[in-house]
Amino acid sequence: MNLESIEKAAAYLQSKFASTPKIGLILGSGLGVLADEIEHAVKIPYSEIPEFPVSTVEGHAGQLVFGTLHGVSVAAMQGRFHYYEGYDMHKVTFPVRVMKALGVETVIVTNAAGGVNMDFEPGDLMLISDHINFIGNHPLIGPNDAKLGVRFPDMSEAYCKKLRRVAKDVAERLNIKVQEGVYVAMSGPTYETPAEIRMLRTLGGDAVGMSTVPEVIVARHAGLQVLGISCISNMAAGILDQPLNHEEVIETTERVKANFLSLVKEIVSELG
Ligand code: HPA
Repeated sequence: MNLESIEKAAAYLQSKFASTPKIGLILGSGLGVLADEIEHAVKIPYSEIPEFPVSTVEGHAGQLVFGTLHGVSVAAMQGRFHYYEGYDMHKVTFPVRVMKALGVETVIVTNAAGGVNMDFEPGDLMLISDHINFIGNHPLIGPNDAKLGVRFPDMSEAYCKKLRRVAKDVAERLNIKVQEGVYVAMSGPTYETPAEIRMLRTLGGDAVGMSTVPEVIVARHAGLQVLGISCISNMAAGILDQPLNHEEVIETTERVKANFLSLVKEIVSELG
């Protein structure tokens, strides 16, 4: 992770899109459709961007989409990089550094997650109030470049309380039910065992997934404000008497897409 590669990627993107995006959107599995709603869209495949990794997993298009949502300038990642794909933590979080370099102030990070909290149902949307990093790695390990952030970043309010307040007010206005809770990140790519899910519940987790936490750590290191939204795509392992699969994750996110889209668009409009 060096400043030079961040600036190289940012300079290329600025040559394609002149205005400054205010909000960065990181769109999880099945949630990339939000980028299709962006107006005056300029789409740049990751493969074209210098220094950018290339995404591989199904359900991810792998491009940055610039444009406006309700008149607010945004940069959206349609598809993200996961640790389980074999990218190192610096690659996983590189796009967040680039967003910061482009002038983004707030990132809205989304994902599909398994419900650990027994009160949740597949299809619920959950505002992330906090996280537990169980990936077994950390994106800030290594020498710290003080130009990018401090050595020991505070994480006492990683997910901005004010942004959550805005999200809750918008959800209420749109009559969309939202849960709130703690997101636990595991490395994947296996889904968890029932014993692991019982452990995560005991430790205070409400939802579990394989992303988000590295990006949020780097966003906080970079001084960006974060709003996190999980789409509860399934109940986590062992809760229901059925196996888990990626198709179910995609099907559920497909089902709640409309609510997810209107919630995020309205939040963006509110923040603009
Ligand atoms: N576990 C981990 N990641 C996930 C899940 C899950 O149950 N559902 C969607 N992403």
